[in-house]
This record gives sequence, structure tokens and C-alpha cells, in this order.
Amino acid sequence: MKKQRLCALDELQDKDARGYAMMSSAGKEVSLIVVRQGKKVHVYLNRCPHTGVNLEWQPDRFFDLDGAFLQCATHGALFRPEDGYCLRGPCAGDSLQAVSAGVSDGWVVVEI
Ligand code: FES
Repeated sequence: MKKQRLCALDELQDKDARGYAMMSSAGKEVSLIVVRQGKKVHVYLNRCPHTGVNLEWQPDRFFDLDGAFLQCATHGALFRPEDGYCLRGPCAGDSLQAVSAGVSDGWVVVEI
């Protein structure tokens, strides 16, 4: 796995999330969710642990109406943005798969 720049931190609103597609170092296209919390980011594979579908119902709409949890549009599972843990829904107790990520010189960098 190698480190790759994904986007500028400024592309992300604080306490919001965006979706990105990129090539992994293994040459596979992966769909990612990037959550910004202040100067920190959390990155997950965009894949609900329940059935494997993408979470969003519209491009870049990952949060529930309260803006508190990431929500799967298919059956409503709710995930904590800071660790991807599913609190409610058919996959309660499972987690989104985290991707190693950080911020460097204003860029979101992922290791995938
Ligand atoms: S596919 Fe996500 S909750 Fe069912």
C-alpha cells in the first residue's frame, strides 16, 4: 500500500463528508467516504456492512438529517463518524471499514 493524496482538506466542510473514487495501489477502483472533523479526517470504504452497497442516496449526502451520524440510505443504518461503528440498523455492532488516513500540508492523504 502506498500513500496517495486524495483531496485538499479545504474541499471538505467541517462536520461533513464527501465521496471520492480512486485507484488503490493494487489497481482496484475504490469508493471512499471522507469525514472532516476540524483538522482531522476519517476515511472509510463506501460500503455498508449490511449488503455492501454504497451508503449515500445522493452524491456526497452521507449524514443523517441531524448531521450526527453517517447513514446508509438503503435501510437506514447509522454509523458514528469518528470510528464507523454501527449503532442502529440491520448491521448494528459492525463497522465501516476504516482506511488509514491523515492530513499533510493541507492535503488529505490515504494509504490504500
Ligand atoms: S444496505 Fe445499509 S443498512 Fe442495509
